[in-house]
Parts: sequence; structure tokens; C-alpha cells
Amino acid sequence: MHSPQAQKRFYELSKQMLASEQVSPLDIGSLRELLKYHEWKYYVQNQPVVSDYEYDQLYKKLEAIEYAHPDLITLDSPTQRVASDLNEDVPPVAHTVPMLSLGNSYNAEDLKDFDKQIKKLCELEADVDIEYCIEPKFDGGSIALVYENDYLVRGATRGNGTKGEEMTTNAKAMPSIPLKAAFSKLGIFKAELRGEALIRKDIFDKVNISRQKEGKVLFANPRNAATGGLRTKDANETRRRGLEAFIFQLGYAVDSAGNDMLPNLRTHDKGIETLGELGFKIPTIERKVVSSIQGAIDFCRDWEEKRDDYHYEIDGMVVKVNSLDMQERCGYTSHHPRWAIAYKFKAKQATTKMINIEYQVGKVGSITPVAKLDPVHIAGVTVSSVSLHNEEFIVGKDLRIGDTVVVERAGDVIPYIVKSLEELRDGSELPPKFPEFCPINMTDTPVPLIKIETEAAWRCPTCVCGAQELQKIIFHVSKVAMDIDGFGKSNVERFHEEGWLQDISDVYNLDYDQIARLDGFGRRSADKLESSINKAKENPISKLLHSLSIHHLGKKASKLIAQEINHVLDLREWNEEKFTNIKDIGPVVAKNVIEYFSNPVNIRMLERLESYGVNLNQTEEDKPLQIAEDAPLAGKTILFTGSLQRMGRKQAQELAAKHGAKNISAVSKNLDILVAGEKAGSKLKKAEALGSVQIMSEDAFIALIGE
Ligand code: IVH
Repeated sequence: MHSPQAQKRFYELSKQMLASEQVSPLDIGSLRELLKYHEWKYYVQNQPVVSDYEYDQLYKKLEAIEYAHPDLITLDSPTQRVASDLNEDVPPVAHTVPMLSLGNSYNAEDLKDFDKQIKKLCELEADVDIEYCIEPKFDGGSIALVYENDYLVRGATRGNGTKGEEMTTNAKAMPSIPLKAAFSKLGIFKAELRGEALIRKDIFDKVNISRQKEGKVLFANPRNAATGGLRTKDANETRRRGLEAFIFQLGYAVDSAGNDMLPNLRTHDKGIETLGELGFKIPTIERKVVSSIQGAIDFCRDWEEKRDDYHYEIDGMVVKVNSLDMQERCGYTSHHPRWAIAYKFKAKQATTKMINIEYQVGKVGSITPVAKLDPVHIAGVTVSSVSLHNEEFIVGKDLRIGDTVVVERAGDVIPYIVKSLEELRDGSELPPKFPEFCPINMTDTPVPLIKIETEAAWRCPTCVCGAQELQKIIFHVSKVAMDIDGFGKSNVERFHEEGWLQDISDVYNLDYDQIARLDGFGRRSADKLESSINKAKENPISKLLHSLSIHHLGKKASKLIAQEINHVLDLREWNEEKFTNIKDIGPVVAKNVIEYFSNPVNIRMLERLESYGVNLNQTEEDKPLQIAEDAPLAGKTILFTGSLQRMGRKQAQELAAKHGAKNISAVSKNLDILVAGEKAGSKLKKAEALGSVQIMSEDAFIALIGE
């Protein structure tokens, strides 16, 4: 419908309008066109080019202009309807009561404003606390189910809110939707329920794997697979996709005389609980009744943190006034109920422009392409550069310089590029050319890159320019390696430029008077750095081995090797067999460590380290744990869940291991002990259901190990 040039214009204009503080009423026409374009991308093409948050911001700008200038409202303005996914080929069915949308909030302030508004609408004093019921905002496809005389008589999609598409056969193919439910016991003759059809994340992955095997197009996300599964003409396909329906509202309920039966339920929570008793799938641990807006804010934040661990995709929480009587007093706008609001999680995805690709050399010489982006805000941080891993990644995704790309940042995961938006290309984008020679090389002689067959990365085989050594030093001092407090990447780079750091050993031979004289340093910072470096000299040798950047030698293998040697330089005498005799150490690590210790440059470097006072002898911490057979947790498996009050999770796991237990990560028949901290959730429930797991509190755990 729109040419690539037009789409590019829409995209760029959207970003401009998002960036401008205030959009002039003169721009109202363009703003409407933009919103219509984004609705088309989202609902028709299933390929949004801006995040939901950005769409909402544009929508709010339009609303604000229309609010100030009601004469400018047109009949076809996006504000004049609830969004629609109606398909013109399917005859629509009318909902018993309209399926409205939700207002949005993005932070605690917005929720507090919502609370104030409720008090105003209900004519309550400002210091009265209101009871709310909170549930996840499920990210799937909305459905409406009608029951008459206890039987499921109709299923429909939300459509435009007033009318939806009929999908009764598909609803019947979903095992979580009862075909018959005892509404009559409650005196209800006809009921209409609202809910969301979803696909569990793990099932979604399986659906895509089997589609890949069959050569079918893959679904971009569980939501697309779910909405498609609702509307397919083949109910077997609905079943194959494993759709489930969570019910979140009893929208309508009357007895045989047509009397409204909803008020009997008194609260939203009670209504949902009752539906659960009738056999419907309802939010349980994900639902909570709280006595004030602060409780709602806490629960929303809690779930924002947990969202990635949850089995289903959710894009926020929904805060609902619990009392049905108060809900009625609040009423509705044409768009949403005034008694509910969605708390939207920070967007995990955003689109932006990839301005360039730069190449970095790593500590073992691998060349990593890095995308330089127009800075973009995602889930609370600004992202301006993202690793592209290797050449295959760029080619596989057909990324071009100048492309508009979708960037994702989920939870603690490092941001990555999901895809580029081909439809926004105008021909000026350039496919990147991967370098043939080391791009960092600081000497005059070009160094050709090589590729090892089993690896994806191109590598600079003989670094003569110091670039790799610099990366090795950066890694050596970092938190994951020697953990030298206050010695960050920028300090390493600065000292390297000054010529003070040529290899790792120089870290321990710095002139602190010189450092104190550096701009921005001073005596105190230099002293602090000195004491951090001195502290690191005492590190166990497992840390030191790991910090040497020996290819493939990770933290765990370093620990295993450190258990077996008295002194780091003992490794000069080790052959492959000695390494591979250690369980979990394979020939690749063996080969790399042997190679490292047969290089005289490395040996001299280690000798220098020792002469500067760095510990090369096995420490108590390096020695294998001696676990007595009668240790309190000997031979047991253990799992910690919920938040611990007296220690961190890692510390608890280390203590458990010290007393003989093996830490495992999932609840199963193999689990012996579950230590449940505060707010323990699904793991605790599962362990209780198994019956075979010993469940204990944090205090009981501490008492058991006698610490
Ligand atoms: S309540 C009249 N509760 O969000 C009340 N909606 O943006 C409106 N949604 O189309 C709905 N989870 O499909 C409600 N726990 C939840 C929800 C939820 C997801 C969807 C719903 C609606 C959309 C509104």
C-alpha cells in the first residue's frame, strides 16, 4: 500500500515528531497520517516499525492537540475508534458489551495520578486507600466467549471493540476453554467472558522449530502466532499451536429474566476466582489484591523484573479497581474504562539507524564487527553501539550500513540487532565489506586475517602492534578476572597510551607518583588504585589463570587446573594427557594451555609478575573442597528461590556447596531441598506439588549448616 520511499518518510517524520517537545496544531494532518500508517504496519502487516511506547506517545500528542482544539477532530481520526484487526472477508459478530481498550501508564507517578483520579470520580477523601486488583497485561490476541445455558455458544476476536470475528470452532479447539461450565449454579443464564489467547514461550519455540523443518515461514513472536492461530480457518492448526486462554474479565452476566448478575460478585477478584472454580484458566500467582496504590506500584515493579522468567509474553500489568460498585461509579470513556489502567513495561525493542560498522580486535585476536547506532533509549538505557558478533551474523541478517534496524534489550541481556527493516531502504544503504587485513594494525605492514575452519570469527594471527595485548590487559583487570577495583577500561587505555602498560605484568609495576600527577587523578585516587592492585596480588591462582586470556580457558576450567598444581609455572611440564585426565577438560583447552606455557615470552611475563609480588602459588581457596561424608548436605541437591534476607543468592550457593550440596537450577524429582526466601513464587508451588522436596526457610538452612 505504501512505497518504500513513503515508508521511509513516515518513519523519519515519526522520529522527528517524537523528538519534538510540542507538535503544532498545524501538523495535525501529518500526525493522523502517521498514526494510520503505524496502525497499518502493526495490525495489517504485523511488522511494526516503532515500539508500542513510541506509538502511544504519538497518539498522546494527537489527543493533546484535539483536546485543545476540539474543532479539529475529524470522523476518521485514530482517536475516534478503538484499534481494529477486523478482516473484511469474515462477517463480524457484535459483542454483548463493547470490548474497550485500556489507558496507559509508564511509571509510579502515572499510577499515583490514576489513583487520585479514581478518588475524585468516587468522591473520596485524598487520604483514603483504594483496593486494587493487579494482573499481567497478557500480550496475545483478545477473545470474547459467550456461554448460554452453561454451554460455550460463541467465541470471537476483539475486532474493533464493538464487533469481532467469529471463531467458535477455534475456541473449541483450545483445551483451556471449557465447552461447558456450571454458570447456572450461580443463577447465570448468559455470560460473556473476556480473555487473551497466548502461546507459552517454550511451546512457541517448538512450533517454530517444526515449522522450520516443514519449510514454513517462521513466526516473529508468540503474539503473531497466537493472533494468527485464533483467526485461522483450520481449527487443527489452532490446536497444533498450543493456544491457551487466560480469562481476565467477566464482562456480562444475566439470569434468565435478563437481570444483571454481576453485582453479586462484589469484587473483580471474586469474579475471577469464581471463573477459576468453574474451570477457566485465570491468573493466580500473577494476580494480587493490594490495599493501596503503593502496593500496586510495588507489584508492577516486581513483575517488570520477573517478566523474562515468566512462561508467557506480557507487556505490562493491569491495575483494576477491585470493587465492582466503585467501578460502576468511575464509568467509561469511549476508549477505555476509567477504573483500570495498563502499566506498560519499558519497551524491550526500538528502531534506529545503523550509521556505521566498526571493527574491534579481541584479546585473542578475533575481529568483532560493532554496529554504531543513532543513540536510542531502550528499557531505561541509551544504546549507541551493539556487537554484530561475526561476518556470518551480518550476512545472515543482510544488514547494510544506513539500514533502520530493530534493537532489542531484554532483562540483563546485552542489546542485539533483531533485524533490519528492508521496507525502509531507499537504495543508499551499503552492504558492509568485511576487512581482509587487521583493521586495528598500528604498524605499516598490513596483516592478513585468517579464518580457522571450526570458528566463526576472522582472526589476526600475529599481532605485532599491541592492540591484542591492550585487550588482554583490559580483561585481566576486569571484574570477571582479577577484579581490580577502580581500574576500568578507560584507565587501562589511558595508561597504555602513556606507554606504561605493554603487557599484563606492567599492571603491577606502575609508578603511582606519575599517576597522581595525571589530569583528573590526584594522590587519593592513585593511592586507592595502588591498594586495589596490591589486593589483587593475593588472588588465588585460579583467578590468575583465567585472567591470562588463554583461548577457551574459562573460569571453571581454570579452577579445575588450579586444584591440581602447586605453582602456576608447574604447567610448563604438563602434557595433554595430564589435562584431559581432569574431568571436564578437553583437548582444545589442553592444547591452548600447553601452547601458552611453551612460549618463552609468556614465561618471562609470568616470572615478572612473580617478581612484582603477584601470587603464583596455590592458595587455600584454590584447593579442592574437602567434604566430609557426614557434612550436613552431603550428596543432596539444593535450590534457592525467592529473595534471601541474610545473604546473597551466590553466597548461599557457595555455602551450600561448601557443606556438600550440589546446586541445581530447576525443580524436578531430582531436587532434595528447596530454600524458599521471601516472595517465592512458581518454584515453591511446584516443589510443594511434587511432595518429595524438603522445603525450608533461609533461617532453617543457616541453622542446618551451623554457620
Ligand atoms: S482488561 C474493559 N486485563 O489489553 C477492560 N485487558 O489494551 C479492558 N489485556 O484488548 C481489558 N491482559 O486484550 C484487561 N489482564 C488484562 C489484560 C488485558 C491483556 C488486553 C486486552 C485488551 C488490551 C487493552
